[in-house]
Amino acid sequence: MENFDPRLYGARWANMYDEFHKGLMDDEGAVAALATLAGDGPVLEFGVGTGRLAVPLARRGVEVVGVDVSPEMLAKLREKSSAVTVVEADMTTVSLEREFSLAYIAFNSIFALDTQQAQVELFRNAAAHLRPGGRFVLETVVVRPPSPDRGKLAVADIELDRMTLVGGKHDPVTGQHKGMWLVLEPDGPKFFPISGRDVSHFEMDLMAQLAGLDLESRWADWKQSPFTAKSELHISTYRKP
Ligand SMILES: C[S@@+](CC[C@H](N)C(=O)[O-])C[C@H]1O[C@@H](n2cnc3c(N)ncnc32)[C@H](O)[C@@H]1O
Repeated sequence: MENFDPRLYGARWANMYDEFHKGLMDDEGAVAALATLAGDGPVLEFGVGTGRLAVPLARRGVEVVGVDVSPEMLAKLREKSSAVTVVEADMTTVSLEREFSLAYIAFNSIFALDTQQAQVELFRNAAAHLRPGGRFVLETVVVRPPSPDRGKLAVADIELDRMTLVGGKHDPVTGQHKGMWLVLEPDGPKFFPISGRDVSHFEMDLMAQLAGLDLESRWADWKQSPFTAKSELHISTYRKP
């Protein structure tokens, strides 16, 4: 998986993304929390995808701009709603020349960037798009030291005519990972490759410092539960002074 093109994710996933991710995450809680953090808006989502969060957020009357590198994912979003302004661009370099009260990136999407440098650029770009006092929110799983299981296959789901396997490998030197969702159906297997770099919440705090942002809060879920040693997820909010 050398030179993984970030547009490949959406090209493969767009048709199945919503079906696969339905009910997997706390969409309602996320939208409620983001709406509160947004205040009067406007709001910027990086890696907006098919609009899982941006569409219901816009339905609450908040102005939302969504950036994504994948034309296929954005086409799915547009089918659902015209209330979100979509921009097809790389989130590390896009320049919208306006300021937002809230920028966010959900569901591990920062892990799609495959170098530390690109992840720092995302923090810098988020800060550049925030008004003073504006917030940058990231949601990811808590990164644990890689386990020997990382190279094994797991069964993610079994239905009557479909079995979904998932496997991945992690490079402990760089933090980069490559993985595959493999969907086995009667008409043949379908391959959904993923590639990127894990980034811990500790490393994110440093990236935020480099971008001139201060850590405001870290929750374990969108209901604002305290973040503890047992937390599997973190929602970290950084603020522009
Ligand atoms: C896991 S999906 C998340 C989609 C949506 N935010 C959600 O929570 O359901 C990650 C998204 O990030 C996008 N993406 C990956 N690399 C990107 C980049 N460099 N710039 C902009 N978008 C990118 C992908 O195309 C994909 O739509």
